[in-house]
Amino acid sequence: MKVTTYPELMEVPAHFGSVPQPEDNTFTLKRWTLGKKLFYDPLFSYDSTKSCASCHHQNFSFSDRVAFSEGVNSQKTTLNVPPLINLAYQPYYTGAGGVPTIEMQILVPIQEHNELNFNMPGIVKRVNQNSEYIQMAMDAYGRKPDAYVVTRALACFERSLLSTQSEYDKYLSNQDESDLSAEALRGMKLFNSQRCGCSECHSGVNLTNYTFQNNGLYSHNPEDGRYRITLKDEDMGKFKVPTLRNVEYTAPYMHDGSIPTLEEVVRMYEKGGFPYPTKSPLILGFQLTDQERNDLISFLKSLSDINFITNPIFKQE
Ligand code: HEC
Ligand code: HEC
Repeated sequence: MKVTTYPELMEVPAHFGSVPQPEDNTFTLKRWTLGKKLFYDPLFSYDSTKSCASCHHQNFSFSDRVAFSEGVNSQKTTLNVPPLINLAYQPYYTGAGGVPTIEMQILVPIQEHNELNFNMPGIVKRVNQNSEYIQMAMDAYGRKPDAYVVTRALACFERSLLSTQSEYDKYLSNQDESDLSAEALRGMKLFNSQRCGCSECHSGVNLTNYTFQNNGLYSHNPEDGRYRITLKDEDMGKFKVPTLRNVEYTAPYMHDGSIPTLEEVVRMYEKGGFPYPTKSPLILGFQLTDQERNDLISFLKSLSDINFITNPIFKQE
């Protein structure tokens, strides 16, 4: 398997290309170590009860297993927690795509009242009360902890959450069909077929073309999606096409966690979803035999990367 090395930390198969990194925040082990410590630190919530990891759990591919997760004061998120995988390759963040960088995305959960309900000055003050953090910030960025350091270090850690070791990756690396089970191979062909049309949107190495689409989940949409950012009627109810990597570990599905299993997701696409003015013309519906449905699901499971969800380097120290 040809690989490129993500500095000092891990090997990334060549089919991913190099990992995009901003010039002012390239990977160093010191930045990453600080970011990882912050990711697991409950000082981020105003009552010191919740960290990033309270909603983004490694064993669920840094997502959560419930439709809506608990923030501070037992308040619930209004959207399903997405997995944090291969974020470095995304052109924008959140389901509505309103945030241009990982560094900037960090402010969203901090300020959301039903997530961490806090603010950056309060966090910076707490970080500066810890001499270990001050030393780590000096070592990593040559300055005391401030908003710059906190957002850069966290983003450096998040950018390293690279899932690249699935069965499907073996197949992509070697271009050898025997790297997939017979079921998954048949499922891949269905996934890429005109009949099913999945790869029209879930394309490329991360199984997404990063566009905003309505996949027919509802005939009446309770959530604005992309409309929230553009205020254009044509964007109502559209969400960023998600990666399908590790989808086996990230149930329940869709922006509101309303579909509990992969089988029900596939059945929704078979039905062609519900009519809605912004629904993609690619969602037309199709028929599958029971075996074909199982094959398609086997392909989705070949995207699972057990190494990623158990990798000790991402675990809390
Ligand atoms: C209370 C639960 C909760 C906490 C705590 C939380 N998040 Fe999230 N996170 C979410 C939800 C819900 C979304 C989806 C938001 C959306 O799509 O608008 C999300 C989205 C994200 C995304 C965007 C992913 C993508 O594919 O676009 C990133 C990155 C992220 N969170 C990182 C963090 C970091 C870093 C922290 C800690 C500072 C954090 N989260 C804390 C619930 C949480
Ligand atoms: C028109 C573009 C488009 C096509 C075609 C498409 N999808 Fe999707 N898919 C999406 C969007 C957008 C979402 C997210 C919707 C949401 O969050 O409400 C999604 C969500 C999913 C999810 C849930 C992921 C998660 O983490 O919640 C799965 C699984 C999935 N699609 C599988 C498929 C399969 C299998 C096919 C082919 C039968 C397919 N998709 C075809 C756009 C598409």
